[in-house]
Amino acid sequence: MNKTRALDQITWENFSELSTMEKAPCFLKEGRIFHALVAQQFSRSLLEDLCSLATCVRRIAKTRTGSRFLQEQLFDRRAMLYFAQPSSRTYLSFAAACQVVGLDCMDVRDSSTSSEVKGESSEDTVRTFSSYVDLIIMRHPEGGFAERVAWMLSNTSRPVPVINAGSGKDQHPTQALLDIYTLERSFENGGGIDGKTVAFVGDLKRGRTVRSLAWLLTQYEGVKAWFVAPPELQIGEDILQQLDAAGMSYEISFDFEKVIPQADAIYMTRIQDEWDLNNESRAIDTSMYHFKKEHLKMLKETGVIMHPLPRRAEIDTAVDSDPRAVYWRQVRNGMWIRAALILSVFGCDRAVRDYYKEQEQ
Ligand code: NCD
Repeated sequence: MNKTRALDQITWENFSELSTMEKAPCFLKEGRIFHALVAQQFSRSLLEDLCSLATCVRRIAKTRTGSRFLQEQLFDRRAMLYFAQPSSRTYLSFAAACQVVGLDCMDVRDSSTSSEVKGESSEDTVRTFSSYVDLIIMRHPEGGFAERVAWMLSNTSRPVPVINAGSGKDQHPTQALLDIYTLERSFENGGGIDGKTVAFVGDLKRGRTVRSLAWLLTQYEGVKAWFVAPPELQIGEDILQQLDAAGMSYEISFDFEKVIPQADAIYMTRIQDEWDLNNESRAIDTSMYHFKKEHLKMLKETGVIMHPLPRRAEIDTAVDSDPRAVYWRQVRNGMWIRAALILSVFGCDRAVRDYYKEQEQ
């Protein structure tokens, strides 16, 4: 079977049997991003393009004329923010990113206010949304549901792109994009992401941000990952197999303090206990996977501490004032990279780059 078939040329049954790696190219159109659903669809060159575009947008937005220019790009389009799971940052940064590029947005943040309570299927609900807008940005508790929506909308007379803003326990590709952008900016004078060691800490089993970012790191040369977690919360075998296939080196560890001095970036995560069936996470002692103030002296001078947020106790707030703590910068970077992604989906990237070049001269 031709694995790079477009979504409108493949049945749902055949598509849903493909692996994530096989599905990934189906979300592109002529090498460009159409749907943004899984980390595996982003090659290094796409990542570099998005990061450099995010920087153009960030700089252009500094002036009023620049902001006006950006807002003109998509003033005639509308987006739907459909968030069927709690969200602060992802929702707000997408809403802000839409404003940066002039895209009007509507939202449904609570399924109990939509016709789903009248028994409408989620598919019909999203199809209804798609009739009013040109882009759907969605977060959903069901893994793979965004893919189902993308397939469905690709097979209508008016295909609408879908951006996955977090799906179940499996993927959070745009968080991974902002993490890459933050890593790129953090190491911009230190050789970039190539050759760096990234330690993932916490709930790696159910943390979708970790799963998406771990894959994106395979696109860089000589990156090493540490997966530091209690055995019950270790990273999934499926991701490890993908890293093996991509030739990325990694180690599993239970010893956080041993890993801290070796890491260039430490990616802390929260225990995802919303997925517990019987409060089972409470029985796990995760206190040795917390970044405490005394750990700062073990961390490289050039190291960075990241977190997708929200945080609980896994990073002591006393760490926040250290210049190596970059989690608040991640939040802001999210807005720029999401604006860059939206511009790319609508094919406005070229115009923005040209404008930036002209202004630079
Ligand atoms: C993350 C998520 O929703 O997966 N949050 C986010 O989008 N920044 C991480 C989390 O909830 O722990």
